[in-house]
Amino acid sequence: MQQKTVRRLILFPLPWQGHITPMLQLASILYTKGFSITIIHTQFNPPNHSNYPHFTFHSIPDGLLESESNTSDVIRLLTLMNINCITPFRDCLAKLLADVSKTPVACLITDAMWHFTQSVAEILKTPRIVLRTSSVCSFLAFVALPHLREKYLSIQEEPVQELPPLKVKDLPMIATRNSEDLYQLLSLGVKEARASYGLIWNSFEDLEPLALSTCTQDFTIPTFPIGPFHKYFPASSSSLLTQDQSSISWLNTQAPKSVIYVSFGSIATLNEAQFLEIAWGLANSNQPFLWVVRPGLVRGSEWLESLPNGFPENLNGRGHIVKWAPQEKVLAHQATGGFWTHNGWNSTLESICEGVPMICQPFFGDQMVNARYVSHVWKVGVHLENKIERMEITRAIRRLMLEADGKEMRERIEHLKEKVDGCLSQGGSSYQSLENLTSYILSF
Ligand code: UDX
Repeated sequence: MQQKTVRRLILFPLPWQGHITPMLQLASILYTKGFSITIIHTQFNPPNHSNYPHFTFHSIPDGLLESESNTSDVIRLLTLMNINCITPFRDCLAKLLADVSKTPVACLITDAMWHFTQSVAEILKTPRIVLRTSSVCSFLAFVALPHLREKYLSIQEEPVQELPPLKVKDLPMIATRNSEDLYQLLSLGVKEARASYGLIWNSFEDLEPLALSTCTQDFTIPTFPIGPFHKYFPASSSSLLTQDQSSISWLNTQAPKSVIYVSFGSIATLNEAQFLEIAWGLANSNQPFLWVVRPGLVRGSEWLESLPNGFPENLNGRGHIVKWAPQEKVLAHQATGGFWTHNGWNSTLESICEGVPMICQPFFGDQMVNARYVSHVWKVGVHLENKIERMEITRAIRRLMLEADGKEMRERIEHLKEKVDGCLSQGGSSYQSLENLTSYILSF
């Protein structure tokens, strides 16, 4: 229930599922604190307005050609959009700020990777707060990456002394046609975040105490760890794809904590050989599995055509494959016992919040750092570190689901789940940070 509207906030999410979801969740949290919400978004990957009738939406042209928006090179797209959006964003924001018929604007909140918005905000004399949608530990790795690139070029297994317990291979690299684009994007993202009025985190104090205190010391601006966002509401509705509800009816037929849920998020892709190793690893594990195969997950395939005939039908009902699942509900289901994940931050947090231990299969960027923390700091997951291979997969599934080691991981993640409840309850760290954020915004 919204309190009396006091000020308006303008939010600008990055147009990918893993970023749109937390930004819209943040919007909903701040709406309940009495703010009126306006969302500016790109034409590329627009959110579904009808799911948020209480928000106002403005679409701006992103200048992407069709050939550009179809690329899997996220860094290239981000670089282009940080240039193309400057004028349309500035014009849209200027118009919104000048509209005296509406509740006055308190500030702008943008994704950290929209670095150009800092100078627009300064020109238009509006405070900008940054939302960083991933973990604090991965942000610190992104901050360090441009300085570490030469020092750590090739020795993959070496520890990174500056960022324990990361190894060189965990550094959050993202493949792009020109690596300078990545370093440039990161450097600008960090520089403009430092220049902003504050940093909001979808994380919580008990999960990342050291990373948060390092960040607070390094960035002299206020920080607000108010997560996990999705726990403020029942399962969210910002999904860009249709969620297949047969996932839940199938889970209803399975024994408690018996199912391994498999999903690699909205961006990662596999080649056909890797896809087949996963299929055989799942089949050979003898555990029931619910597998999200997103159209486009397998490069060069529409959907399941590269699977052997009769897969998964010949597994006696032991496997169920969908294009997209209602993930939060799947993780909360009593039949789900493990999550084989790419460790995108939303998936990692959702798993922690439901006390589901993980198999970590990071692909790029922050996922590498999150996976190392899940397996080696919080010790709530088995890390698949080598190439995707069926025997290793089967071993990891059986270790997580059936062995003493997996049981200990389950106990540890149950403990973290309890901490989530504590941080969100009155007087808890996230609760208090949200109070602080609300007062801070009202002071502008
Ligand atoms: C991207 C990056 O890949 C990730 O590294 C970064 O942390 C956030 O941005 P994505 O790959 O989509 O995100 O992963 P993730 O952050 O885990 O977000 C996926 C979201 O989609 C989750 O909220 C999850 O609940 C939802 N989802 C996923 C579904 O609703 N159904 C599915 O079948 C799979």
